[in-house]
Formats: sequence, structure tokens, C-alpha cells
Amino acid sequence: MARTLLVFAHPALEKSRVHRRFLAEAAALSGIEVRDLYELYPDFDVDVEAEQRSLAGHDLVIVQHPLYWYSVPPLLKQWIDLVLEHGWAYGARGTALAGKGWLEIVSAGGPRDGYRTRGFHGLELRQFLAPLERTARLCGMDFLPPWALFGTHRLSAAELERAARAYRRLLEAVRDDRVDWAAAARFATLEEALASDATILAPAVGGEESTR
Ligand SMILES: Cc1cc2nc3c(=O)[nH]c(=O)nc-3n(C[C@H](O)[C@H](O)[C@H](O)COP(=O)(O)O)c2cc1C
Repeated sequence: MARTLLVFAHPALEKSRVHRRFLAEAAALSGIEVRDLYELYPDFDVDVEAEQRSLAGHDLVIVQHPLYWYSVPPLLKQWIDLVLEHGWAYGARGTALAGKGWLEIVSAGGPRDGYRTRGFHGLELRQFLAPLERTARLCGMDFLPPWALFGTHRLSAAELERAARAYRRLLEAVRDDRVDWAAAARFATLEEALASDATILAPAVGGEESTR
């Protein structure tokens, strides 16, 4: 089992369709600690010690949020600014996060094709996430290929259900150490990796994986 932490940031969960659905799936899973930043810190008063303790106790950190102005919601930025301290997360003596994984789970209102060099947004999603990738690497972490759900503005109920099932399967596989991260690293995003190479997700042993 990979000790898995899910750091979650959505500024308006009451209006959310995608992440509210995803969060219900995550909360129903055992073995994953969920930290809902907007619920924990509505006044942006992040408890740095508690967050560092939680990070230190996990091997893999899922950072989940909607894409807001090609970036992260403000409380997640605040969390990064405060929690990833010099001398703890980076710097000569800052090795607390070294060797841990950072997995982005992102949703974007815009459709997949817009996030191409020649698409409407002019860059690949992975390029928009470059500041996070550099942050993870500066802390000695492995920035894993991000998993994204695009086109949320026009997602049908059936598509949302399919995405929620894929999300749950992914979380279970991450938690159970069934993702071949070396093979996945050949792709820009995890959903592309999973679509192209079925061996990247090893099947669950003994039918533990959700079949819903
Ligand atoms: C303030 C704000 C900024 C947004 N910026 C982007 C953006 O840069 N790119 C994009 O594709 N969608 C953007 N969106 C759309 C959200 O990413 C989308 O609504 C969200 O992923 C849907 O998830 P939810 O149902 O959980 O809210 C933005 C939405 C808001 C409210």
C-alpha cells in the first residue's frame, strides 16, 4: 500500500458537480487521508505544523483541484507558500518530501482539444502545470503524469458517472501500488497513458477493485 494523502482544494464545493462527486468517491475509500483545505481553513489560516506532519506520514500526495485561470485555487497556493518551507521541504537541509510522489488530479471546463499547442488555449495542460512540477521537483518529489478531466462545462450525467468510476479505480490503484509509474512517465498525462497502455494499471488481486 502507498500511504496516500489527498490534498483537495475547491473554493465553492456547494456549486461543484465534478469534485463533489469525486470527493464522495474518495471519502468512501479506506486507506486514503483526505484533507479538504477549504473546509479546514475557511479563513486561509493554514496550520503549517499539521500539514507538514500529514505530508511527512505519506508516500504519495494527490493534489486535486479545478483549474482556475490556468492555475490552482488561491487556498492551494497559500498552502504551498506556507507549508513547503525552506529547510523543511527544500534547501540544503530540507528533505522531508524527498522521494515522495506528487499526483495532480485536475478538472478543466475547456475541452481536451483546447489544451493543445494549436488549440484554443495555446499550450498543453502539462505546460500550464509547470510551476507545480518545478515546485515538486525542487522538493525532491516525483511529479507524476497528471490525471485530468476536461470539458466539465458540457459533461453529461452519464459522462460524469463514467469519470467518477475511472477516478475511483485510479485512486484504488494508486493506494494499492498498482500503477506502473515508470511506464506512465512516458506520457504527458495519466489519462493518455491509461488509454494507450492497458498494462500501466495492474488489475486488483482478489477482486478488491471496485467494479461499479
Ligand atoms: C474562477 C474560475 C476560473 C476558471 N478557470 C478555468 C481555466 O483556466 N481553464 C478551464 O478550462 N476552466 C476554468 N474554469 C472552469 C473550472 O475549471 C470548471 O468549472 C471545474 O473544473 C468544474 O469542476 P466542478 O464542477 O467541481 O466545479 C474556471 C472556473 C472558475 C470559477
